[in-house]
Amino acid sequence: MPSSTTSTEHTLSLTKLLASVSLSSTMSTYPKHEDQYYTPQTASVGSFAAHDGPEAEAEAPKIPLAFQPLTIKNLTLPNRILVSPMCTYSAKNGFPSDYHFVHYGSFAMHGAGLVMIEATGVQATGRISPADLGIWADEHAIGYKRIVDFVHNHTGKIGIQLSHAGRKASVDGWYNKSDPSEFWKDNVVGPTGGFQWDESHVVPREISVDEIQQVVKDFGAAARRADAAGFDVVEIQGAHGYLLHAFLSPYSNKRTDKYGGSVENRARFLLEVVAEVRANFSSEKPIFVRLSATDFMEHVDDQASLNIEMTVEICKLLRDAGVDLIDVSAGGNSPLQKIAVSPGYQVGYAERIKKEVPGVLVGSVGLIVDGPQANKILESGQADVVSAGRPFLRNPNFVEIAAKELGIRPKYITQNEVAHASRRRR
Ligand SMILES: Cc1cc2nc3c(=O)[nH]c(=O)nc-3n(C[C@H](O)[C@H](O)[C@H](O)COP(=O)(O)O)c2cc1C
Repeated sequence: MPSSTTSTEHTLSLTKLLASVSLSSTMSTYPKHEDQYYTPQTASVGSFAAHDGPEAEAEAPKIPLAFQPLTIKNLTLPNRILVSPMCTYSAKNGFPSDYHFVHYGSFAMHGAGLVMIEATGVQATGRISPADLGIWADEHAIGYKRIVDFVHNHTGKIGIQLSHAGRKASVDGWYNKSDPSEFWKDNVVGPTGGFQWDESHVVPREISVDEIQQVVKDFGAAARRADAAGFDVVEIQGAHGYLLHAFLSPYSNKRTDKYGGSVENRARFLLEVVAEVRANFSSEKPIFVRLSATDFMEHVDDQASLNIEMTVEICKLLRDAGVDLIDVSAGGNSPLQKIAVSPGYQVGYAERIKKEVPGVLVGSVGLIVDGPQANKILESGQADVVSAGRPFLRNPNFVEIAAKELGIRPKYITQNEVAHASRRRR
């Protein structure tokens, strides 16, 4: 943005750009979204509709908490089972395509409490791989608006995870090998220079204070674009060893300036990002932050690492900065991590934060695989929402299956109700 352009003028030109697009700028006769979708929904898809089976006969049986709505600022989720952000390594130059439209749209059509778009680069060099999604230019917002409009037309809610990959940038996606010319191996940054994630990653250089300020601004610009595209939530990626997590952890952050040392100093960058995102995202809409509660490196005696005690302190700072929900994950900052993987293996961290940091909502994620498990986590007060990743990849209708397991019927998309009716109309 030229320095003479004010943020308001820029938002107006972005809004104009988005308004000028029906569905594709190359197809001027294509109908606008409001003229093409038939969305006769009588209630929010994915909300509680009725008890099923023997429960239906009981007198006013309780609605499982997983299917009770949750209001966060101006956002009301139809249920508390959310799609966890998952990279799909399927973009070119950061642009969402028809693949992303169908992939994310299908979760909304099947009642996800919230669809969360994968880690999306706020800078081109902040992507993990050249095939990541991006939101570093206004033009990116057009494709997101199309997905958001579709989800909203089907009563769904949708967020986007804003990310900078830091020292985990410029590698191939898991299954998508990019041309060598597409990488930026000489421009990978971390809190501390020379501190490679592992041998398969680039050796980063130390990010300068000016560059930190640019990343902060770019998170803000990305939030403004997300707002203009109509997203209900933005989530800041502060987990899994990416740039902001690498600053939070004393294992990867050895700086001696105001961004290193104490917990407050290590959290400074994240807090500056939160303030900039908050200033650029409509104040009535919520902001989430994903954290890794621990580096899973407690067994490494000679290296300080991020642990749950530090994370509790960071969560208090985030709450006071106006963050609405902490999405509690773990790990990803070092190949030295040791993870005892079992069902709900990260729930204890969410529970601890919920107990010790009142005043902020808490989400849990990680091997939460069915409705009863999800509902138990919520009803026992360990978390306010749960997210699932791979279960949604196995079944985009994971929420519908969870409902069935809990003995209830959710509101299905009207076009599909016929398949779930107890008696078929002739
Ligand atoms: C293919 C894949 C891509 C992922 N990409 C992201 C991502 O973009 N951002 C993020 O915070 N976590 C990402 N994750 C982690 C998931 O969001 C989730 O936390 C993790 O898979 C554990 O949940 P699950 O057991 O329900 O899959 C990814 C996981 C998978 C399997």
